[in-house]
Amino acid sequence: MEIALVKTAAPKPKPDPATLGFGRVFTDHMFVWDYTQEKGWHDPRIVPYGPLELNPACAVFHYGQAVFEGMKAYRGPDGKILLFRPEQNMARLNRSNARMSIPQFDEELALRAIKELVSLERDWIPTAPGTALYIRPFIIATDNVLGVRPSNTYKFMVILSPVGAYYEEGLNPVSIYVEPHFVRSVRGGTGFAKAAGNYAGSLLAQRNAQAKGHAQVLWLDGIEQKYVEEVGAMNVFFNLGGELITPDLGDSILPGVTRDSILQLLRSWGIPTVERRLAVEEVFQAHDRGELVEAFGCGTAAVVSPIGRLEYRERIIEIGGGKIGALTQKLYHTLTGIQSGVLPDPFGWVVEVES
Ligand code: PLP
Ligand code: COI
Repeated sequence: MEIALVKTAAPKPKPDPATLGFGRVFTDHMFVWDYTQEKGWHDPRIVPYGPLELNPACAVFHYGQAVFEGMKAYRGPDGKILLFRPEQNMARLNRSNARMSIPQFDEELALRAIKELVSLERDWIPTAPGTALYIRPFIIATDNVLGVRPSNTYKFMVILSPVGAYYEEGLNPVSIYVEPHFVRSVRGGTGFAKAAGNYAGSLLAQRNAQAKGHAQVLWLDGIEQKYVEEVGAMNVFFNLGGELITPDLGDSILPGVTRDSILQLLRSWGIPTVERRLAVEEVFQAHDRGELVEAFGCGTAAVVSPIGRLEYRERIIEIGGGKIGALTQKLYHTLTGIQSGVLPDPFGWVVEVES
């Protein structure tokens, strides 16, 4: 299937790379693909970036049937445009669709559309260290009816944003509040899907934590509220006495591409790694024994984000003396090096975009 192209007549000036922040400016074009029951996914096209006109009854406004993805394009030292394991994001988006009653799409076509869009917008890819072109595919339900049922029509779109660091703190360790009351997801829920509503439901706890001076929330499981699940919108790792532990995946945890890549890297370095349930009490006990070596969140946006401090039920502990841990630093260096084409890619993770 051909992807149609309508170019903008009014290209925008590029932003100052020093003041990018995260997801505040958008490029000149976007990808749009429509779904109806009669035609399936049809009319894939790249068009000038701009607002959508939607009916106030549009399903996504009322019942939140929406999913998204997050990935990055980097400019290699030789000028090549590189994506990182993009097929994983397409597969996850279809898994999110399945959970949210949104029809499956052709992953190969979606990835081709992303490559064509990124290639068209190649001059928007920033090159300074820590910057990238963030890619945001998303799908919304577009039926104009207030009945609670899956929509019969959808829009799949992709927008692009040149980004800098996700956290203002950059690679400096952040303070994290272990959330004792609110939960992000539950067994049988939607936590493993990148469903828009998961993020809406997380905002109150995040705002409360920020008001207490923390950067993010550490989420506990939704059943016993004892076991560590994720940190903010990232997966989480703890180094307890030289063993790297991350919660095992169930249906309440988002299976991160960064998490999986970190597990593969650690294993290739011969570092003991375990995916298992990890009680927050166990983390605090390891700290008391002097065995809590480092902790970090990981995800596409921040890559890795060291945790320097944890607060749980009036107890506050420091991790790593306010400094980034050695393995955290090595993982950041290696992952961003592979992603940006500076280091070799022994796992075959990087996908080049023809420009
Ligand atoms: N957990 C949540 C809830 C997320 O939204 C994300 C970001 O996509 C992640 C974890 C990390 O996933 P990934 O490494 O694929 O970006
Ligand atoms: C990530 O990419 O790590 C994220 O957490 C995505 C976030 C901006 C929703």
